[in-house]
Amino acid sequence: MPMAIALQARCVFLGAPGAGKGTQAKQVADAAALAHISTGDMLRQEVAAGSELGKQAKGYMDAGKLVPDEVIIGMVRARIAQPDAKAAWILDGFPRTITQAEALDRSLTGESALTHVIYFAVPEAALIGRLAGRRTCSQCGAIWHVENKPTKRADKCDACGGDLVQRSDDRPEAIGKRLEVYRSQTAPLLAYYRDRSVLRELDANRAPEVVYQELLKLMQ
Ligand code: AP5
Repeated sequence: MPMAIALQARCVFLGAPGAGKGTQAKQVADAAALAHISTGDMLRQEVAAGSELGKQAKGYMDAGKLVPDEVIIGMVRARIAQPDAKAAWILDGFPRTITQAEALDRSLTGESALTHVIYFAVPEAALIGRLAGRRTCSQCGAIWHVENKPTKRADKCDACGGDLVQRSDDRPEAIGKRLEVYRSQTAPLLAYYRDRSVLRELDANRAPEVVYQELLKLMQ
């Protein structure tokens, strides 16, 4: 159980696939009682449930491409309107295109405006190893890594005993495509948010505990 901390942030975690956004978002959201809104997790739940949205999204996700903006924007708007996300939240994996960022700006005004955008900076060479070795718990969603964060038993989650799975988009072909999509469609958001003076850069190529402590400082 992480130590409870007081934070009233409404922030975006921005960074390449494998930069550690989900790992850190889960921890800080638990500690500060923030809503953790991960578009990747929401889409994977839709895929697992076999919903229409999930069927539509699966092909894009497995190929390492972005799901169309109109699908994602509607999903996030509905999620942010829920009671637990009124005051403080972390958006993990959204926005990922300029169109999504503009839509977010339009839906957040006045007291609901963004407080921070945290950019998780990690060199590309490190990202590939992180993605290829990632394992996720099919039951509680905990994120592990075969070398950096191994479980006691190779196929079971230490937190809940659930089965560990490898994400279908963590195969080498999909990893390459995701990094390419990040460079062309998501990296331009760095300039977008820098121009609006909300961007804070985090060196996320360090041990997770060090990254966490630095993140807390940036989110104050
Ligand atoms: P999504 O699930 O959002 O994937 P992503 O952004 O590609 O990010 P990842 O979840 O791969 O990485 P992460 O930064 O969270 O890293 P993690 O903490 O897991 O999206 C998946 C797909 O859904 C997209 O490709 C797209 O199709 C679709 N989608 C989602 N949002 C969308 C949107 N807005 N628009 C359109 N389509 C959208 O860490 C990775 C590994 O590294 C783990 O094994 C972890 O243990 C390890 N690790 C973490 N931190 C460290 C550290 N400091 N040192 C060493 N290892 C570390």
